[in-house]
This record gives sequence, structure tokens and C-alpha cells, in this order.
Amino acid sequence: MYFSPLTTIFGSLLATTVIALPHQQQTPTKIAPRQGFDLTQYHVPLSNGSQSLPSPNSTLKAITLGRGTQNYTCKPSGTPTSVPVAVGAKANLIDLSPLLAHPFFNSDAESVVLDAVPAWFLNLADANTIIEFFKIVFNIILDILGVHFFNDAGVPTFSLGDTGTLLGKKVGDIIAPANADPGPGGQGPGAVDWLYLSQAPGSEGLSSVYRVETAGGKPPKSCDGQPDDIEVQYAALYWFYE
Ligand SMILES: *[C@@H]1O[C@H](CO)[C@@H](O)[C@H](O)[C@H]1NC(C)=O
Ligand SMILES: *[C@@H]1O[C@H](CO)[C@@H](O)[C@H](O)[C@H]1NC(C)=O
Ligand SMILES: *[C@@H]1O[C@H](CO)[C@@H](O)[C@H](O)[C@H]1NC(C)=O
Repeated sequence: MYFSPLTTIFGSLLATTVIALPHQQQTPTKIAPRQGFDLTQYHVPLSNGSQSLPSPNSTLKAITLGRGTQNYTCKPSGTPTSVPVAVGAKANLIDLSPLLAHPFFNSDAESVVLDAVPAWFLNLADANTIIEFFKIVFNIILDILGVHFFNDAGVPTFSLGDTGTLLGKKVGDIIAPANADPGPGGQGPGAVDWLYLSQAPGSEGLSSVYRVETAGGKPPKSCDGQPDDIEVQYAALYWFYE
């Protein structure tokens, strides 16, 4: 099988680069996509092993890596009897198209590589560090396509510039697969659910998004010893449809 060595190589490259990052600099050049690259041939993972999210019903527009935090609040804080309540999230969305188009990520390996990306890059501090990693190791330039946040009305929002804006309305969720990465370094309370959100009023150019292959993001089980505001590191793939 091709993908096992690939994932191993990629994982160890990640480990060495984290150490080497501050010392190495080179000028990356854009690499031509491999022949026949077509984003719409990719299929979003839908199953956690026993249940599935609904299938997409429109055209794939972007596959992004979301890297940021899930926010929770503890009221009252520090007490074992209260539980953290979700109050929002904030993440940068890195466009993965240049990665998929790269000859290194050939068609045999593409879904395996993609699916493993959130767990690997949960271990890097933030989106800019991830972008730096790809420049140095693969000579691939990745860009931040947009941001994910909750608006003043508490609606999950995805602002992707020219690609569009999605205000999300939840239509499906499943628990992340049992083997999902629970947090940075494989430590943490768990991976947030996989989601399917469709468009709420105010959306433009985008009709839906899937959050899959989640890594981290779940809060501690109780507010015992926790502050008022908790930010939990997470990463996920966000697949956007037009
Ligand atoms: C696609 O599915 C979503 C969620 O079930 C639904 O809201 C939307 O109307 C559907 N769109 C089309 C074009 O069928
Ligand atoms: C898949 O998701 C469903 C719904 O959330 C959950 O009941 C089930 O336990 C999950 N299966 C696995 C294998 O995690
Ligand atoms: C959540 O994230 C925002 C950034 O969007 C931050 O300002 C806020 O303090 C964080 N924490 C909570 C609990 O909202």
C-alpha cells in the first residue's frame, strides 16, 4: 500500500520541521497542479463507522483546513457541578486545493492524506505556522481562504471573501469516530462532532458546509478548576458547497 509509508513520512517530516522551523528559510515557488486535477472529484467523508451525515446535494467549491479554538464558558466557574457550555468558535480556514493539486499527493493517497491533515496540524500552533510548514517542507504555498466565527446573533459564520459567505444552520451531526484525535499530542477531552450545516438567510455563494475529520475541540467534562472562559484547540476539514 502506498499510503502507509506516505503518512509515516509526512508525520515524521512534521516532527522534524517543528524543530527546524525557526532555522530554515528558502524561497518557495508555486508548483503547477498535476494533470487532470479536478476538485469536484473529491468526496467528503460522511461516516463515523456506524452512522452517516446526509450526502451533499450541490457542487464542491472548496476544501479547507480549519485551525483555531472552540470556546466554552463556565458559570459558575471552578465548580464540579457545572459543565462548560459552548459559546462559539474561531478558526482560520486554509485552502487545501494547492496541496491536493500537488503531484506528491497523488490520487491513491489523496483521501488518506486529506483525512489525516487535521490531526497532524493540530500539533502546530496556528494557521500561519502550518502555512510556513508547507512552504519549507513541500515548497507549497497555502493561503488562508477565510475565517470561521460566530456572529453577534450567535450564528456560525464562514467568511470566504470572493468564494462566498455562509451563515450555517445545523441539519446533521454525528459523533466523531472512536479513533479521532482527542487533542494536541493525542491528549485531550475529545474531538468535536462531525456536522452538516446548510445556509441560513444572509448567505451568499455557498449553500452548505461539512465539518469532518475533527481533532480536539471538546471541553473538559466539568467546570472543576476551570476559569470562566475556556478556549480549546481544534482542527477539522471544512468542505464547502456552492
Ligand atoms: C440540500 O439539502 C439541504 C439540507 O437538507 C436543503 O436545505 C436544501 O434545500 C437542499 N438543496 C437542494 C438544491 O436540494
Ligand atoms: C456515530 O454517530 C452516532 C450519532 O451521533 C453515534 O450514536 C454513534 O455512536 C457513532 N458511531 C461511532 C462508531 O462512533
Ligand atoms: C472566544 O474567542 C473570542 C475570539 O473570537 C475571544 O475574544 C473570546 O474571549 C473567546 N472566549 C470566549 C469564552 O468567548
